[in-house]
Amino acid sequence: MSRRPLVAGNWKMFKTRAEARAFAETLAENLAQADGVDLAICPPFTSIDVVATVLQGTGVGVFGQTGHENENGAHTGEVSMGMLVDAGASGVLLGHSERRADCAETDQALARKVPAALVAGLTPVLCVGESEFERDSGSTKAILDVQVREGLSGVPKDRLGDVVVAYEPIWAIGTGKSARPEIAQEAHAWIREELRSLAGDTADSMRILYGGSVKPETAAELMALPDVDGALVGGAALDALSLLAIAAAARP
Ligand code: PGA
Repeated sequence: MSRRPLVAGNWKMFKTRAEARAFAETLAENLAQADGVDLAICPPFTSIDVVATVLQGTGVGVFGQTGHENENGAHTGEVSMGMLVDAGASGVLLGHSERRADCAETDQALARKVPAALVAGLTPVLCVGESEFERDSGSTKAILDVQVREGLSGVPKDRLGDVVVAYEPIWAIGTGKSARPEIAQEAHAWIREELRSLAGDTADSMRILYGGSVKPETAAELMALPDVDGALVGGAALDALSLLAIAAAARP
């Protein structure tokens, strides 16, 4: 089954609005390099509208980095899925390991956030991944199974196909130590197996992205793996041409 690759750049807490605009303009001018690949940028909340405005009509997605499960309410510091849409977003990262660690974005909260994103019309990217300790103690598959199953537990079966999953081993994020291809493929195959138990054959059309120290130099061998359908990129996504080089490596 051929799945159109998705390459998403997660800016984390980087870039002013002026820097975000300059990035988006460079990206828009060089988009031909990513032909055949879906692209998305995940700016901080403050730059979503700037990036969405510059990239309007290009087909490039603009994703939030998290979102609250409620439509509104007394939740200081939070932004709802509807507010992300209002700012120009078409998707949202959920359960990034930094959010799980820093902001208690638990599997239970994700069970509410993922369906809330779908209801608002956003593409949710559910991030999962094991710590170094969990890998060393042989529990990677069990951890991934739980994160996928719990995170998707609130999604109606007929909407599972609209969810993207990102496998991001915590030990590979921001460390320069990307997973070796055989490690990435094994984890992606486990995740697809878990998706199959939830979604049946729809699992074959669901995209599973790899994230963790993806660089232009290492992207090609990761993107060529049978169950890797794109990348979630942090550090190397802060430069538009570097992100485009990764997208070029993901071209079918
Ligand atoms: P990295 O970050 O590419 O800098 O390792 C990936 C991520 O956290 O999504």
